[in-house]
Amino acid sequence: MGVGTGGTISGSARYLKEKNPDIQVLGIDTYGSIFKKYKETGEFDKNEIYPYITEGIGEDFLPQCVDFSLIDHFEKVTDRDAAIWTRKIAREEGIFVGNSAGAAMAGLVQMKDRFKEGDVVVVIFHDHGTRYLGKMFNDDWMRERGFLVEEKPTAGDLLKGKSLSLVSVEAEEPVYLAIERMRQHNIDQLPVFEDGKPVGTITDARLFDAILEDAEVRHQKARVVMGPALPVLKPEDKLEVVATRLGNGLPAVLVEQKNGFGILTKQDIIGKLK
Ligand SMILES: Cc1ncc(COP(=O)(O)O)c(C=O)c1O
Repeated sequence: MGVGTGGTISGSARYLKEKNPDIQVLGIDTYGSIFKKYKETGEFDKNEIYPYITEGIGEDFLPQCVDFSLIDHFEKVTDRDAAIWTRKIAREEGIFVGNSAGAAMAGLVQMKDRFKEGDVVVVIFHDHGTRYLGKMFNDDWMRERGFLVEEKPTAGDLLKGKSLSLVSVEAEEPVYLAIERMRQHNIDQLPVFEDGKPVGTITDARLFDAILEDAEVRHQKARVVMGPALPVLKPEDKLEVVATRLGNGLPAVLVEQKNGFGILTKQDIIGKLK
């Protein structure tokens, strides 16, 4: 847990160690505070002191409440990590808590090598998230300090929620099948596959021209009317890569995933960016 006046940690540590002396008590400190160095060297080092953003923990003096003999280790956490974790707890756990809670979780993750499987870890969250609405929970405040982790989606993220089965046609299948599938699924481009690989694309513009010229083309193989294959991206490719490819006039891009190919169009990006 975070250490400010040291009241929480010293009181709970005294009680818990009475019950079980093997319980480890780990204090979270800030950069800019004297606790960690004092615990480790016994020296009150003024050079450790400088302003910091994290709230509620760390000190520039030695509060009488801190019983250093009960605290096994101090872990320092940066302002940035504390702020990022404050939001992460709300987003990932649905627990709306304050900035020293963020520091405690960030510190706990830093200390992961101290724990072995089966250990029970208890983290104390000191206060509620409502006190930080204008700070850690405010994107502008976070951005101004360089704390905002911009989470741009990847091609794989953009595919989430889309139907898994890609509508396509085999190069050897007849054109009328391609037309039927495009109508049935209300799509205006259809990837053409051969041996599990994309080899071309049929678009409604190509079909229109081909059928105007010769209506019998319906009974020919799909490869006769196909244009170049759509580019294949990786699921981890960033939004910028997808956007650049689609911005170059391509109707869609394919994404090769473990369970097969997915397709992304401009509409998929517009729909995801809110
Ligand atoms: C938000 C917050 N977190 C942590 C602490 C640290 O608790 P303690 O002073 O018991 O060490 C405080 C202390 O006031 C606090 O306000």
